[in-house]
Amino acid sequence: MRFLIDIERRRDPKDKPYIQSFIYETEDRGHTVATALTWLNSIRDLKDTEGNSAEPIEWDRNCLQKKCGACAMVINGKPGLACDKRLFDLGARITLSPLKKFPKVRDLLVDRSIMEKNLVKMRVWMEGNASHYESVKDITYDASRCLQCGCCLEICPNFYDEGDFTGMAAAVGASRVLMEMGREEGREAYRTYERSFYKGCGKSLACRNICPAKIDIDRTLSGSNAVAVWKRHIKK
Ligand code: SF4
Ligand code: SF4
Ligand code: FES
Repeated sequence: MRFLIDIERRRDPKDKPYIQSFIYETEDRGHTVATALTWLNSIRDLKDTEGNSAEPIEWDRNCLQKKCGACAMVINGKPGLACDKRLFDLGARITLSPLKKFPKVRDLLVDRSIMEKNLVKMRVWMEGNASHYESVKDITYDASRCLQCGCCLEICPNFYDEGDFTGMAAAVGASRVLMEMGREEGREAYRTYERSFYKGCGKSLACRNICPAKIDIDRTLSGSNAVAVWKRHIKK
């Protein structure tokens, strides 16, 4: 099948975005957006559909196995992982653009360093010993699978790169710590969670179904709200 791939490009963060289109052909139904981008970038004299020479397409990736979150981008209008999205599921014309909530670097590459800063801001570390509560082990395990890809932030109406609200990615990271801390040690982390996430979250759960790791956002949120905001004690 012949795929037309429209890519939002720019040479530097201040450049206006423009679309450059490329053809990718395959009959392999397992090929993903990442496969296509890798193949296009392997061509020595890459040409777009107009026959113009094109520079390699900048995009972020690492594991290519849906494990690191690096390849998150907007695919046909929705945030997702390039190594997760199969071309045959996307249709003959595919549009790729960078995540819009983060500063642009070049092409499909963005600067997501705010996510790391927000994990620090949210105090995602243990103070004192961890308690492993049987009753929340499924929730904390689920939360530990977060890829820090940023897809939930892309779709969130309340998250901005320079804003005070940390968004769901940091809340998911914090939820594990909140549920494993003792009540005394957790006091400061509870306050931070309430101030930096809970108060800014509109609870619309627009981020609920976008997570590529399929983390149960409702359950994670209700668990960490219960501990940090409502101060409900977790049973062993
Ligand atoms: S529930 Fe709504 S406001 Fe809260 S993090 Fe998700 S998308 Fe953002
Ligand atoms: S919660 Fe899901 S969508 Fe959000 S950063 Fe983690 S893996 Fe990505
Ligand atoms: S490259 Fe790691 S999740 Fe896609």
